[in-house]
Amino acid sequence: MSREPWSERLTLRMIGPAMEHDDTRIQAAVGGKTVLITGASFGQGEATAELLARSGATVLLVARTSDKLDEVAAGITATGGIAHTYALDLADLPAVEIVAAEILRTHGSVDVLIHNAGKSLRRSIYRSAQRVRDMESMVGANFTGPMRLTLALLPAMRANGGGQIVNVATAGLWMAPAAPRWSFYLGCKAGFDTWIRSVGLEIRDDGITVTSVYAGHIKSRMVATGWVSRTPGHTPAQASRILAYALTHRPRVMAPRGMAVLRVAGVCLEGPVGRVLSWVHGRTDETPASEAAFSRAVAVSAPGDSGACDA
Ligand SMILES: NC(=O)c1ccc[n+]([C@@H]2O[C@H](COP(=O)([O-])OP(=O)(O)OC[C@H]3O[C@@H](n4cnc5c(N)ncnc54)[C@H](OP(=O)(O)O)[C@@H]3O)[C@@H](O)[C@H]2O)c1
Repeated sequence: MSREPWSERLTLRMIGPAMEHDDTRIQAAVGGKTVLITGASFGQGEATAELLARSGATVLLVARTSDKLDEVAAGITATGGIAHTYALDLADLPAVEIVAAEILRTHGSVDVLIHNAGKSLRRSIYRSAQRVRDMESMVGANFTGPMRLTLALLPAMRANGGGQIVNVATAGLWMAPAAPRWSFYLGCKAGFDTWIRSVGLEIRDDGITVTSVYAGHIKSRMVATGWVSRTPGHTPAQASRILAYALTHRPRVMAPRGMAVLRVAGVCLEGPVGRVLSWVHGRTDETPASEAAFSRAVAVSAPGDSGACDA
């Protein structure tokens, strides 16, 4: 891999967790293994699938957009890799069960499970009242879907003698216990992260390690607009190297190293930090995407109906 200039490397060190640059190490960690990656149709998941397939893993690609999954898989097989696609909405729990059973029938077990799929939502709470379906899709994609998938695959991993689970959480969660407008996203991410970390303590003796990755800004479609998109971040290809580090080193936690001071402030000064966040919230506008989604919902004015999510 061609390395970034030192100034960019320094910035990435500050804003994100460690990256694995040694391809030989990645090959040793995943070569010949079966790796399931959720959210493999776009962004970090797509780039990670490509990196791990190039490193000799058989990759199982999971997401909703089946034609995009086929495109990613075609790119992988064209360069000699092995990829299988599974179109799945994680919010559809019966479908998660069916797809997991199919995966176990075909592959026996998975060696590595990467919970990368995620759905973001930045909207103030009064704007959410008429979009209740968004609540369900957020909980399904970020919390109950990954939970159901883990439950379905874990017994086979244990019978197989071990494995690795990587959860892509968010640096926001690591730095601040709460933040205005991010209630659904942070709530769901925190719920699943606490769940999987607790599970990790139970399954360590079975040879299954769990890594929580508190990812910083990734320049993907998830953060394509607004002020966050203008801040420094990892490209999906760079972010895939963070997940590769999780696989080569198996740490319990990976977090942005340069932001530890914000974490300390977020925890030790929770009261004052909260007051500042509330003050800022009261003086900033809703995002245009959120306003537009709210106006659409009010125009339709179907009680409890929410339409699509404005990520
Ligand atoms: N972007 C950032 O700055 C940032 C920061 C911190 C953490 N993260 C986390 O990093 C992970 C990767 O995000 P990204 O930045 O690469 O965003 P992205 O490009 O939007 O990718 C998200 C992936 O999740 C899949 N997905 C969403 N809802 C799903 C559902 N209900 N069922 C199955 N798959 C679903 C999407 O595929 P389909 O639409 O095809 O289903 C897509 O492949 C996420 O967990 C995100 O929360 C991102």
